[in-house]
Amino acid sequence: MKTSELRRRYLDFFRARGHTVLPSVSLIPDNDPTTLFTSSGMQPLVPYLLGQVHPEGRRLVNSQKSFRAQDIEEVGDNRHTTFFEMLGNWSLGDYFKREQLPWVFEFLTKEAGLDPKRLYVSVFEGQGEIPKDSESIALWKGIFASAGIEAREGERIFAYPAEKNWWSRSGVPSNMPAGEPGGPDSEIFFEFPDVPHDPAFGEKCHINCDCGRFVEICNSVFMQYKKEADGGLTELSQKNVDFGGGLERLVAATLNEPDVFTIDIFAPIISRLEAASGKRYGEDPASTRSMRIICDHGRAATMLMVDGALPSNKAQGYVVRRLIRRAIRFGRLLSLQTGFMTETARSVLDAYDDTYPVPPERREAILAAMSQEESKFNAMLGKGLKEIEKIPSLTGALAFKLFETYGFPWEMTEEIARERGQQVDRAEFEAEFKKHQELSRTAGKGMFKGGLADHGEAVVKLHTATHLLHQALRSVLGAHVQQKGSNITGERLRFDFSHPQKVSPEEIRRVEEIVNEQILRDLPVSFQITSYDDAIKGGALAFFGERYPEKVKVYEIGDFSKEICGGPHAEKTSLLGKFSVTREEASSAGVRRIYATLS
Ligand code: ALA
Repeated sequence: MKTSELRRRYLDFFRARGHTVLPSVSLIPDNDPTTLFTSSGMQPLVPYLLGQVHPEGRRLVNSQKSFRAQDIEEVGDNRHTTFFEMLGNWSLGDYFKREQLPWVFEFLTKEAGLDPKRLYVSVFEGQGEIPKDSESIALWKGIFASAGIEAREGERIFAYPAEKNWWSRSGVPSNMPAGEPGGPDSEIFFEFPDVPHDPAFGEKCHINCDCGRFVEICNSVFMQYKKEADGGLTELSQKNVDFGGGLERLVAATLNEPDVFTIDIFAPIISRLEAASGKRYGEDPASTRSMRIICDHGRAATMLMVDGALPSNKAQGYVVRRLIRRAIRFGRLLSLQTGFMTETARSVLDAYDDTYPVPPERREAILAAMSQEESKFNAMLGKGLKEIEKIPSLTGALAFKLFETYGFPWEMTEEIARERGQQVDRAEFEAEFKKHQELSRTAGKGMFKGGLADHGEAVVKLHTATHLLHQALRSVLGAHVQQKGSNITGERLRFDFSHPQKVSPEEIRRVEEIVNEQILRDLPVSFQITSYDDAIKGGALAFFGERYPEKVKVYEIGDFSKEICGGPHAEKTSLLGKFSVTREEASSAGVRRIYATLS
């Protein structure tokens, strides 16, 4: 089946069961400080899973563009990708396991046409006070029985510990920060019986084996717990379902293809790579791996660029740069000429033109940025070659330096060295590489772009103060002021907004005065749900970088501020305390940044 067809069938299936279709949000999250990228469909829905009212109701469905940076080094096999689309459906305190599991099974077997005999499932085996998910086991037995299959535990249904069958954004319960929602899950695996078990992954094959015979295609999380500050788990006020299915893997399963790179989305890219390299996909393992890496990284980098992350040395831009450079290195192994990544980006934009259209000027800008990055990196590689010629003896550590500075792949360095009759220490190269990976992982954890650090009291109050600040800035500086970003921790708020020059100390004093006046007025904070168009017509402020669903929540603070926002907020302004601006500075061209606190 084609990707667009399966996506459509999925959305229709859940729409027919009372779900509202939400648009895919940007890959660069605005309101989630825990990560640089949108990596699952539930991410923008966290406030609603925790109990906030969602403007579109309690049953939601979408196909969410997702990116998982931690998978970069895994790309090259037949099923790992960094960018993917996650088919999601959610019950926000509405239906639960009894409805969800049969629906997923019906979708997989009837709409996607998968053979039920090839499906296997896992459930949570229990831990501490959270019991084994016997309810799901009983439901699965009934569901399989309705398809004429006797599903026994240990044969088709398997119980696993939290490491496998507990889902939260931070993994197992002990890793969850206070306030984080999570719960036991039930995963579905698809078997490719023609793929023989690879003993390199263990003596016996099982559904969670990484050999590729069984592939996880989807996951229903029963999100009903919240981590508390004392380290325990408590029941959320509502029982939610958070379902995620990998669109590309599902499309591959419908084709009975263990290799996700054979689906329609990648076909034009692979044809181009085959023509340019003279190699055929699948012909030999090394070229196949290179082609997969180019397909994945080219698609991910392009989609990230569509959402505004251009190659750079910072945050998301840095990841885009890494993807492009890694793809170019593998392109060199296929002897591809400069320009192949720009062509790859063009194929990606074409493949998604129906689903995620990009206006022509933006499309040209993305292709130009890709082309520039390609030329820059190739020039650097050229310089690297000259450097190598000057080095009398190549060590593993030097090989790594060449890799890090010029992006020189190990294989290339080794070959140069071989021509000179030298041998480079691979173990030393790999040890350096590992150290570097650890470092970049740690650095990655500390980075966040915007939004709320958590939903604690201090953050929520600062979030309400941000709305007052936004309106006060417009009153003092003018209606050209628009939000460009926001980032709130328990200690301070940070707010970026459009304004052509420095905000003077007098203007800052005036802004502080206005915000504090509104705090003293003890204004109530309330929200209503309306259509996006009505919200804008009614004068609500919005973050115009964001793509909103049709229905939105509009928060009003008394008669002073009106803004489209997901919440959460303090109930009234008198709870906020005294507001002070601590710093004002330039953020980027035409954008100023203010830091402020409440005391
Ligand atoms: N949020 C769940 C996942 O990402 C569905 O697997």
